[in-house]
Amino acid sequence: MIPVTGMDKINDTIHAAAVDDAVLRNAAAFVRALFANDAGGHDAEHSMRVGRSAALIAREEADCDARLCVLAALLHDADDPKLFETRGNANARRFLAANGVSPETADRICAIINSVSFSANRDAPPDSIEGMVVRDADRLDAIGAVGVARAFAYGGAHARPMAETIRHFHDKLLLLRDMMCTRTGRRLAEERHAFLEAFLARYRQETGDPNDMI
Ligand code: ADP
Ligand code: NI
Repeated sequence: MIPVTGMDKINDTIHAAAVDDAVLRNAAAFVRALFANDAGGHDAEHSMRVGRSAALIAREEADCDARLCVLAALLHDADDPKLFETRGNANARRFLAANGVSPETADRICAIINSVSFSANRDAPPDSIEGMVVRDADRLDAIGAVGVARAFAYGGAHARPMAETIRHFHDKLLLLRDMMCTRTGRRLAEERHAFLEAFLARYRQETGDPNDMI
């Protein structure tokens, strides 16, 4: 089997978004370099998946700029305070300026990014459709099979017992389905939520531990 390379993945995303330009390709390469060695579930692959999901959601929404969504999705964790000490979206802005993106467009992209990731905004819905698309795409990556993998990767990276990660499913991951902003996000979340439920039921069955139930 031919391995899927990074460039195949961004090609797939570009195809889904029905836009093709060098800036998107450069953004994928920039993100790969930025997250070179993070194994805690916040690696470049997360950003690539969020870009792809954003493209899939954006194309179902009317009056939605798919290119802005994909660019914001690829860059959404580039200034995450948990990972970087930058201020004012400095990493994202550095990339956008170097790639000839106008200051107005850079402002829009940073507003989308900030509506997704700043914890102060967590409960308020983003004020643009692009913000909703990228937020849904980011949340989708925390559920489904990938969500299970990321949760245990996070737990392992923080030396947490597996039971604590199971608790995270109940505290947070099972709530995400009902927090989606877009129709397509909700539909995709429904499938991934069902997988989480199936995983938890099976886990419980194999451990026989009522504490895994809650
Ligand atoms: P993002 O910034 O991409 O929205 P987070 O930083 O909140 O996501 O979490 C990154 C990943 O780590 C997610 O998949 C999330 O489920 C997982 N994670 C966060 N906290 C915990 C935890 N306490 N236990 C297990 N997994 C966690
Ligand atoms: Ni993210």
